[in-house]
Amino acid sequence: MNKKMFHLYLQSLLFVLISLVHFPCFCLQTDTLTSNITFRDSDTIISGRHVFKLGFFSPENTTNRYLGVFYNVSEETIVWVANRARPLSDSSGTVTFSRNGNLVLTNGRNETLWSTNVTDISPRNTSAQIQDNGNLVLRDTSTGSIIWESFAYPSDVFLPTMRATDNIYTGHKVGHSAWTNGSDPEPGAFRSALVVLNNLQVFIWNNGRPHWRSGPWNGRILTGVPDMYYPYLATFSLWNDSEGTFYLNLHERRLLTKLTLNSTGNFVQTMWNDQQRNWDITWSAIGNECDIYGTCGPFGSCNVRDSPICSCIRGFEPVNREEWESGNWTSGCTRRRQLQCSISNNTSGNRDGFLRVPFTKVPDFAEQFPSRQPDVCRTRCLSNCSCLAYAHDSDIGCMSWSGPLIDFQRFDGVGIDLFIRLESSELDNHSDRPVVIIIPVVVGFAAISFVMFIAWCWNKRKGNRFGDIKVFEAEHVISLDSSAIVLKDEIEKINVGELPLFTFETVSNATDKFHKNNLLGRGGFGLVYKGYLAKGKEIAVKRLSTVSGQGNVEFMNEVVVISKLQHRNLVRLLGCCVERDEKMLIYEYMPNKSLDGCLFDPNHPSQKILDWKKRFNIIESIGRGLLYLHKDSRLKIIHRDLKPSNVLLDEDWNPKISDFGMARIFGGNEDFSNTSRVVGTYGYMAPEYAMEGRFSEKSDVYSFGVLMLEIISGKKNTHFYNHELCLSLLGWAWKLWNEENGLHFVDQTIESSNFQGEIVRCIHIALLCVQEFPNDRPAVQTVLSMLSHEIIDLPKPEQPVFAEKWNCSHDGTGTTQRSSQIGHPYSNDLTITVFDGR
Ligand SMILES: *[C@@H]1O[C@H](CO)[C@@H](O)[C@H](O)[C@H]1NC(C)=O
Ligand SMILES: *[C@@H]1O[C@H](CO)[C@@H](O)[C@H](O)[C@H]1NC(C)=O
Ligand SMILES: *[C@@H]1O[C@H](CO)[C@@H](O)[C@H](O)[C@H]1NC(C)=O
Ligand SMILES: *[C@@H]1O[C@H](CO)[C@@H](O)[C@H](O)[C@H]1NC(C)=O
Ligand SMILES: *[C@@H]1O[C@H](CO)[C@@H](O)[C@H](O)[C@H]1NC(C)=O
Ligand SMILES: *[C@@H]1O[C@H](CO)[C@@H](O)[C@H](O)[C@H]1NC(C)=O
Ligand SMILES: *[C@@H]1O[C@H](CO)[C@@H](O)[C@H](O)[C@H]1NC(C)=O
Ligand SMILES: *[C@@H]1O[C@H](CO)[C@@H](O)[C@H](O)[C@H]1NC(C)=O
Ligand SMILES: *[C@@H]1O[C@H](CO)[C@@H](O)[C@H](O)[C@H]1NC(C)=O
Ligand SMILES: *[C@@H]1O[C@H](CO)[C@@H](O)[C@H](O)[C@H]1NC(C)=O
Ligand SMILES: *[C@@H]1O[C@H](CO)[C@@H](O)[C@H](O)[C@H]1NC(C)=O
Ligand SMILES: *[C@@H]1O[C@H](CO)[C@@H](O)[C@H](O)[C@H]1NC(C)=O
Repeated sequence: MNKKMFHLYLQSLLFVLISLVHFPCFCLQTDTLTSNITFRDSDTIISGRHVFKLGFFSPENTTNRYLGVFYNVSEETIVWVANRARPLSDSSGTVTFSRNGNLVLTNGRNETLWSTNVTDISPRNTSAQIQDNGNLVLRDTSTGSIIWESFAYPSDVFLPTMRATDNIYTGHKVGHSAWTNGSDPEPGAFRSALVVLNNLQVFIWNNGRPHWRSGPWNGRILTGVPDMYYPYLATFSLWNDSEGTFYLNLHERRLLTKLTLNSTGNFVQTMWNDQQRNWDITWSAIGNECDIYGTCGPFGSCNVRDSPICSCIRGFEPVNREEWESGNWTSGCTRRRQLQCSISNNTSGNRDGFLRVPFTKVPDFAEQFPSRQPDVCRTRCLSNCSCLAYAHDSDIGCMSWSGPLIDFQRFDGVGIDLFIRLESSELDNHSDRPVVIIIPVVVGFAAISFVMFIAWCWNKRKGNRFGDIKVFEAEHVISLDSSAIVLKDEIEKINVGELPLFTFETVSNATDKFHKNNLLGRGGFGLVYKGYLAKGKEIAVKRLSTVSGQGNVEFMNEVVVISKLQHRNLVRLLGCCVERDEKMLIYEYMPNKSLDGCLFDPNHPSQKILDWKKRFNIIESIGRGLLYLHKDSRLKIIHRDLKPSNVLLDEDWNPKISDFGMARIFGGNEDFSNTSRVVGTYGYMAPEYAMEGRFSEKSDVYSFGVLMLEIISGKKNTHFYNHELCLSLLGWAWKLWNEENGLHFVDQTIESSNFQGEIVRCIHIALLCVQEFPNDRPAVQTVLSMLSHEIIDLPKPEQPVFAEKWNCSHDGTGTTQRSSQIGHPYSNDLTITVFDGR
C-alpha cells in the first residue's frame, strides 16, 4: 500500500467513525421494525431483496420531513407517504409502537402526526415490515397476521401487485390521490379509482369532476386506451370476490415499473432504466386534449387527427355555433332532425337507422347486458325509443346509451364500433370514409438525418404516447377503411394462448446469456441469436435493440402479421418474450442462415453448393411464399422489404421469407396504398415506392425481380459496380440480355451448360419484374406461371429505370447530384425509414 492510498484509507475510516457517531444509522440489513427499536429521522429499513426502503425524506424545494417508502435505486422516487398532510418541520420525527400495536409517528413535542390507526384497542405486540413490492405491513407478532398495510392506503403511485378496488355494495374504493405539487405530498386536486357502477372503468377526477376515463373493461383490456390493444401493452388484470369487491391489479412481474398519478392529473407509467439511472416513460393516460373527459361536450366527437379536434356527430349540429367555432366546445351538439321514434312513438314502423362509427372510445354511461350477437343489441335498441346508440364487444356484450353521448372519441385502427341512432334521411348514402391526413412533411437530404429524425420521434414518444404508434396508424388513415378493420380484428384475436410467451430466463439460458458466440446476425432493429431450448430444440432469437426504443412498431407488426400466417416458405414464429425492457421474437432456427450470406460471400462454402437447381428452387419457392402473402392467405399482405438477408434457408436449402416488421395488411379490394413513411432497403425498393411512397403487390414484385437477378448473378445489386459502363446490376443484366449474351451475367460458380435456356428465361422474367411502371410488371402468379412454363411466350421487357448506377459519376468521383434526389444510397442494406416530403 503506497502512502497516498494509506491516506485515503485513513480518511475513509475516519469518515465511517464520524458517521457512526453523528448519524446513528440503523441501516441494519433489516426489513422489520420491532417495538424495542426507536426509529429516528436518519434511520432506514430496507426490504429483503433491497428494492424498497422506509425512511424520512424531504421533497424538492422544502425542508419539511415526511415518513415514506422509496426505491433503493432512486431514493428521490417516493412511492408512499405516511404523514402526507402533516409534515414534520424538523428532524425530530420518531416512529414507535403504541400500546395497542399501532405504528405511530410523533414529533419532538410528542404530538402524533400519523398513525396506522387500527381501532381494535386490545394491547398487543406488533412488528412492521417493508416488503420487496413496496408494501409496508403491520403484523401481529403472536399470530403473524397482517393487521394493516400501506397498499390499502395508497398515495400517488400504483405499484405492481397493488390493487385498486371498488366494492359495489359499500362503495368503498381504494384509489390514488396525487400530490398537491412536486414539493407537497398533501392530496391535491386529482384522485383516481376504479368504478364498477354501470361499466368497469378507471377514472381520474379533478376536484370531483371527471378528468379522464379509461373506457369499459372488456375482460382483457380497458377499451378506451388505444395502447392496450397492442398485445404487449396489456398489463392489467381485474377480478372480483364474492363480497362484491372488484380488484384492478397492475399485472407485471418487473418490479421496477410504476404508474404515478402526477400532480397535473396524468397517469404516467415509467420503468427504471438502470443504464441511465432514470425513469423512462412507457405510457401516459392523457396524451392529447381528446383524452380529457368530455372535451367536445355532449354528442361531440373528438379525433386528435382532425383540426379542430372536435366535430359534431353526423346528424347533429352545435348548440351554440358561435361558441363552438371559437373553440369552446363544452356545450356540445344537438340533433338536427327529430327521431321518428320520438315523433310517432311507434317503434314497429319507425324509419330510424344507425350510423356506424368505427374505432371509438365509446361514450360514458353505457348500460350493459351480455349477448353474443350484435344483432340482438341492434334489435333491442331499435325497439326502445329512448335508446340513442348501441355498441357490441365480443367480451362485454351489448352496450346501449339513453342519455347524451359524452366523452366520445375516435381512434385509428383500434376501438369499438359505435352505432348511433339517426333519422333515416340523415343516413342517405354518405359513405363514412376516413379523411386523408398526411403527417407533417419533412424533406430529407441525407439518410443520416432521416434516421436521426426517426430516432427523435421515437424518443419523443417517451414523453408522449403518440410517437411511433402514430406513424404506424397514420398509414391506416390513408388506406381505406376496410384494411384497418382487418388489422383490428387480427390484433384482437391474438391472445397469449395462441402465441406462446417465453420468459426472459428461458431465452437468456437458451442463448447462453446472449453470448456473442451465438450471434447470428444483425438486423435493422436488433441482433439475432441462436439458442437451444431445454429439449435441444434450436431457435433463433431476434432481440430488439433496447437503447434506441426503435422497433416497437415493427415488433408489434411482426407479431400481428406472422402469427396469422402459415406457409412452408414463410419463417415460423414460435413465440415472443416481453419482459423487463426486452422485446424478443423467437423463430424456428434455419441452419443455412440467410440467402445473403451464401450468395454474396465468396469464401462461403455453400456458394458452390448453390447449383442452378437449388437456385431455381429458391426463386420459385420465394415466389410461392410471396403468392401466399399476396393472394392465398386470408389477408393481403405486402412485405415491403424483400431482400436476400430476409430470406432464410432451412437444412434442405428451402427458402423462407422472414422479417415482417414492415409488412402491411391490405383490405380485400384495395390495390395500392400511399404512405408518407417509406420503409425498405435501397436497391430493392421499386421506383414508385422509393420516390412517391406508393406501394402495392407490384412493388414486392420489383424487389423479387432484383432478388432473382442477384440469385442468378451471385452479385449484390447495391455493391455491383461496373466501372467502364457505369451500370447497375439491373442495367448490366439488361445490356447483356439485349445483346443475347445473358449467360455472361450468370454467377461463374454455376455449371450452366445444361440449363442455358432456363437461365436466360429467368433473366428475362426478372427484367419483366423490374420494369419502371407497376402495371408493366407481372403479378406473382404470372411470374410463377412463367417460371413453370405454363406461359411460354414472354413479353419484351422495358429498360429498367435504375439502369445507371445511382452514385456513379462519369468523372469517376463516386457521388453526384443524382444520388441526393432520393436520398443517400446505402452501402450496406440496412432497412431504412424515410419520411417522404410531399
Ligand atoms: C428486539 O426484539 C426482538 C424480539 O422481540 C429481538 O429478536 C431483537 O433482537 C430485539 N432487538 C434489539 C435491538 O434489541
Ligand atoms: C441499494 O442501494 C445501495 C446504495 O445506493 C447500493 O449499494 C445497493 O447495491 C443497492 N441494492 C440493490 C439491490 O440495488
Ligand atoms: C408521549 O406521549 C405518550 C402518551 O401520549 C406517553 O406515554 C409518552 O411517555 C410520551 N413520551 C415522551 C417522550 O414524552
Ligand atoms: C384515526 O381514526 C379516527 C376515526 O376512525 C379519526 O378520527 C382519526 O383522525 C384518525 N387518526 C389518524 C392519526 O389518522
Ligand atoms: C409483548 O412482548 C413482551 C416482551 O416480549 C411481553 O412481556 C408482553 O406480554 C407482550 N404483550 C402481549 C400483549 O402479548
Ligand atoms: C405547493 O403547494 C403548497 C401548498 O398548496 C404551496 O404553498 C407551495 O408554494 C407550492 N409549491 C410550488 C412549487 O408550487
Ligand atoms: C424547485 O425549485 C426550482 C427553482 O425554483 C424549480 O425549477 C423546480 O421546478 C422546483 N421543483 C419542484 C418540484 O417544485
Ligand atoms: C363475482 O364473480 C363471480 C364469479 O367469480 C360471479 O359469480 C359474481 O356474480 C361476481 N359478483 C359480482 C358482485 O358481480
Ligand atoms: C405529468 O405527466 C405528464 C405526462 O408525462 C407531463 O406532461 C406533466 O408535466 C407531468 N406533470 C408533472 C407535474 O410532472
Ligand atoms: C364555454 O362555454 C360555456 C357555456 O356557454 C361557458 O360557461 C364557459 O365559460 C365557456 N368557456 C370559455 C373558456 O369561454
Ligand atoms: C310514448 O309511449 C310511452 C309509453 O308507451 C309514453 O310513456 C310516452 O309518453 C310516449 N311518448 C310520446 C311522445 O307520445
Ligand atoms: C306503427 O306504424 C306502422 C307503420 O307505419 C303501422 O302499421 C302500425 O299500425 C303503427 N302502430 C301503432 C300502434 O300506431
